[in-house]
Amino acid sequence: GDKDHSCRILDILVGLFEQSIRKAFPGDTTLPVLVVPARQADYQCNSAMPIAQKLSATTGKKIAPTEVAKIIVENLPKHDMIEKIDYSGPGFINVTISPSFVSKQIRDILTKGVLPPNILTMVGKLGSNGENKRPKVVIDFSSPNIAKEMHVGHLRSTIIGDSIARLLEYTGFDVLRLNHLGDWGTQFGMLIAHLQDEFPEYKTVSPPIGDLLAFYKASKKRFDEDEEFKKRAYECVVNLQAYDPDIIHAWKMICDVSRKDFEYIYKELDVKITDRGESFYQDRMVDLVKELDSKNLLKLEDGRKLMFLPDIDVPMTIVKTDGGFTYDSSDMATIKQRLQEEKADWIVYVIDSGQALHMQSIFAGAKLAGWTEENSARIDHVGFGVVLGEDGKKLKTRSGEAVRLRELLDEGIERSLAKLKEKNRDTVLTPEELQKAQKSVAYGCIKYSDLSRNRNFDYIFSFDRMLDDRGNTAVYLLYAYTRIQSIARKAGIAPETLKAKMQDVELDFANEEQELKLAKCIIRYPDVFTRALDELLMNGLCEFMYQLATAFTEFYDRCYCVEVDKVTGESRINYRRILLCEATATVLKQCFEILGIQPLERM
Ligand code: ARG
Repeated sequence: GDKDHSCRILDILVGLFEQSIRKAFPGDTTLPVLVVPARQADYQCNSAMPIAQKLSATTGKKIAPTEVAKIIVENLPKHDMIEKIDYSGPGFINVTISPSFVSKQIRDILTKGVLPPNILTMVGKLGSNGENKRPKVVIDFSSPNIAKEMHVGHLRSTIIGDSIARLLEYTGFDVLRLNHLGDWGTQFGMLIAHLQDEFPEYKTVSPPIGDLLAFYKASKKRFDEDEEFKKRAYECVVNLQAYDPDIIHAWKMICDVSRKDFEYIYKELDVKITDRGESFYQDRMVDLVKELDSKNLLKLEDGRKLMFLPDIDVPMTIVKTDGGFTYDSSDMATIKQRLQEEKADWIVYVIDSGQALHMQSIFAGAKLAGWTEENSARIDHVGFGVVLGEDGKKLKTRSGEAVRLRELLDEGIERSLAKLKEKNRDTVLTPEELQKAQKSVAYGCIKYSDLSRNRNFDYIFSFDRMLDDRGNTAVYLLYAYTRIQSIARKAGIAPETLKAKMQDVELDFANEEQELKLAKCIIRYPDVFTRALDELLMNGLCEFMYQLATAFTEFYDRCYCVEVDKVTGESRINYRRILLCEATATVLKQCFEILGIQPLERM
């Protein structure tokens, strides 16, 4: 046991079963599979069947899985967490955790909090930037394009990326959150040329562009129809890349308009991110081409410079015929910069799965260039599916246009207020509380409905579904959390008293089924946390929150935390139960924080 980290039961059990299997079946390399079954036991090992099959095949003698299961259990090292072991089905081994072990874990959570796992095991090596520093993660997410609308795909990247960043920060990594804005490239030529015509005074006053998308469309129209304009647009691109001060100024003006829109969305969603767009890499792309040329990795074909990759059919275009750079060149520059300048131990790109091939190419390119050999960082493409409307087609407005993010958030805000009023919350809460609840519910629902599904799949965006207060939704969880808070409030226990009770109240949950069930659910959290960290998937964490809230509701329906004596009328606080509420709240709160959802005291 590592004292600085919360106990991971599943991890320990896997270790015990592995020891047993190695001893009982030398030569067998099966890694034990342990799950949390819906019924029958706390944990279940399902390895007897595959081992029996293998043994039968190699020895030619039929051996039953139930036989193998017995042998595994006979060889299992003793551990004080195990209360009893029994069998079910074709050799399933069921483990029941001992109540005294459960009590100890709950006491630890109450007195020490939930402590994250050892971060050094996460990247497989010590930080390359010096042994005493925390390992560094660079996470690239959100990353909308200037002058184009930030769309629902960017919303997914924002929500998923922010929660992963929170998870990593919570674990103790040094996290650099980067917004890889599309703020460079040929489209800026026409935007700048159009700006010069429309707002000639742009050098002294900032241009009153209200609708940058309309501005973009107008400039695109001219670009397509007017040869003269097109020529000027090209000149602007050349001058932009040469850092002509006037052109750079115009470019900044345009970027600022977009940035204000983006900032509004980040502020509303409580997302912190540092802008570092494609423009940052202009000089680095020039150097990149030199390096790749000197390493003989570029092939000249039809005036373009291509980079061919092992096992990937399509080469990357590093330089276009007109000498310009591409999305490939900019991302080759990002990965090089993050490995060599940031000295990252872990690099994460949160980009839709449609760009999987692009990402594979970049990773292969970095390897070919020899950069990953110098710095063996862990590199992940965190992909995600498309956002669909309730009709199962790509999310669109009624008139068929792409949904504007700001309007989507506004609709969420409106709908959440309606929902709260429907539940008569406006009669109970102060105006400030109501407003806080409105935001928390609206954005909590949007985030949770995204994060609670496996991000690798497409997902259907439905306000009706996400605002339902039954089932696995943020509203249900937020209500559960406020209910816990109100129990403590109503009991009127002073914080110091509660603190003292955490140390010395007897925590024996074994006499009440609902208490034990809830306690056993709570102590699964460190395993759930670690799994989310390994896979960079949040749906398991969400599923756990739902199970926790459900176990809490069942407990709360049956077990009184404050009992009123029928004869004397005196109320008596059951501290054991109050502390169980407290541990539930601690874990639930941490989950909310990782997902970027604001839990409420009252709602
Ligand atoms: N701007 C791109 C888009 O809208 C996303 C950029 C993601 N980050 C990256 N390093 N490629 O599709």
